[in-house]
Amino acid sequence: MLTIVSHPLIQHKLSLLRDKNTGSKDFRELASELAMLMAFEATRDLELEEVDIETPVTGARVPMLSGKKLALVAILRAGLIMSDSIVRLIPAAKVGHLGLYRDPDTLKPVTYYAKLPSDIGERRVLLLDPMLATGGSAVQAINLLKAQGATQIKLMVILAVPEGVAAVEAAHPEIEIVAAALDSHLNDHGYIVPGLGDAGDRIYGTK
Ligand code: PRP
Ligand code: URA
Repeated sequence: MLTIVSHPLIQHKLSLLRDKNTGSKDFRELASELAMLMAFEATRDLELEEVDIETPVTGARVPMLSGKKLALVAILRAGLIMSDSIVRLIPAAKVGHLGLYRDPDTLKPVTYYAKLPSDIGERRVLLLDPMLATGGSAVQAINLLKAQGATQIKLMVILAVPEGVAAVEAAHPEIEIVAAALDSHLNDHGYIVPGLGDAGDRIYGTK
């Protein structure tokens, strides 16, 4: 269940994001814009209901969002740039945070923080992280979300590789993944090829 959002604006901005000469300021802006654009695809199935309003001209029946409310859940650090921009688009969404980092030797995720909306079980969850590499972090994040009662989860990443998609699919086959691109493979250090490097370091300028 992988959807690649192939809109030209998204593909153009992604190419700029990949470029090693793109500095942190531009990287942050591009990642925010990409997240916002991709959110259109990831929220395509939100339910609508007809409501009555008065325009300045007449009464009208118009569509408004209904059904389950949304929770945006960012995988720290890098997912934060995505939740910060999408919440501007969907201000009624609640925002959760899962702190995970990948151990550089084992590449296994280490959880150091979790704070989720208390009603996460009643919300649709959009789980956000720019990178789906081995899939360890995403699988762990979904485990944590399910343990807190979340049942409707969609994963949105900027870059994915087949290894990461397969790992999520094996552990959580019902999860839909939305990505801007499916890259070739992982290198020996677990980095996505061609990729964009370390997303957190490029966003926050820590390398
Ligand atoms: C990056 C990225 C994902 C994870 C993906 O985070 O933002 O969370 O790696 O790798 P995986 O699919 O192999 O688990 P990182 O561990 O570098 O943490 P950071 O965002 O705090 O820098
Ligand atoms: N995490 C990143 O930030 N980049 C990769 O290529 C893989 C994992």
